[in-house]
Amino acid sequence: MKILGIESSCDETSAAVVDDGAKLLSNVVASQIEIHKEYGGVVPEIAARNHIEAIIPVINKALTEAKCSWDDIDAIAVTRGPGLSGALLIGTLTARTLALAKKKPLYGVNHVEGHVYANWLIEPKPEFPVLALICSGLHTELVLFKNHGEHQMLGHTRDDAVGEAFDKVARIIGLPYPGGPAIQAAAKAGDPHAFKFPVAKLDTPYEFSFSGLKTAVLRQVQSLCGKDYDFPSFNLAELLSESQRNDLAASFQYGAVKTLVDKTMLAHKEFQPKTVIIGGGVAASAELRRQLTEALPIEINYAPISLCTDNAAMIATLGYYESQRREPDDPNTLKIDPSLSL
Ligand code: KG4
Ligand code: ZN
Repeated sequence: MKILGIESSCDETSAAVVDDGAKLLSNVVASQIEIHKEYGGVVPEIAARNHIEAIIPVINKALTEAKCSWDDIDAIAVTRGPGLSGALLIGTLTARTLALAKKKPLYGVNHVEGHVYANWLIEPKPEFPVLALICSGLHTELVLFKNHGEHQMLGHTRDDAVGEAFDKVARIIGLPYPGGPAIQAAAKAGDPHAFKFPVAKLDTPYEFSFSGLKTAVLRQVQSLCGKDYDFPSFNLAELLSESQRNDLAASFQYGAVKTLVDKTMLAHKEFQPKTVIIGGGVAASAELRRQLTEALPIEINYAPISLCTDNAAMIATLGYYESQRREPDDPNTLKIDPSLSL
């Protein structure tokens, strides 16, 4: 069963064709990162406008690269949330129109769950129960999947998502958007133990909090620069030396990742899953992979980076598993849900 996946929840326009939820035939991603870089983050209206321009060429390219015509496509899966409303509307309206015009079943799926399903595109396939650490620009969650479509939320972030913290800290120390890859690059030349940033102490074991860590970095930068609260924070970065910037990047990255790994370890101990998987843009982090591999007693398989950041292959894969257990959505009425939860 060949599924065309469509993803447009944030700043990537993507289309992919996946066979039987396992075989990747194409995965085309048009990234808007260069456009949003100038503003230091994603501008929703600009994202929506660029999705409009990119979406049809991206879908055509995905079909061509998969060597498929519309006759070969059995169903369409599209992200219906969570994400930016305008961006989600472009993807879902395109998918609804195509489903009606080409007479294909349509499945509206959850973007965050999609990040988890990227792991069904690699071998060996995850075995239930699966413990998933989902960490992206909008989400930080530990979820236990007992089967397809059957999951238990163990905990999520109370404030900033971990990816959001990477992006905000990058801005404070003068690194470009998106913060994750920029901090990873700077951290290579820095000392992860140069600064000790506080870890949020929460009374619930699987919840996260990253806003205190972000503020601690800001306070450290103010102190290094000899400036206080009155000094504009966006002017601090230029006062930092290269080595201070690298040490700040390395120490923040080490601390943020350690929190993710400590909580994943705790959940692994309590729930004894057969497989642990990570998903979402922050799953691309080399430091996260290093710390997790070192700490976990079981082997962990990592998806390639192209399947960790936003992509439609994960949406097509999740669409396949949904098609095995439920009726399709009505293309006349499928709605977006910008705050859709798992
Ligand atoms: O999943 P994603 O592509 O988009 C959302 O659904 O949010 O995640 C984007 C996030 C950004 O915050 C970005 O800084 C982060 O993933 N990211 C990383 C790395 N690569 C991307 N964070 C840490 N280390 C990385 N190597
Ligand atoms: Zn995402």
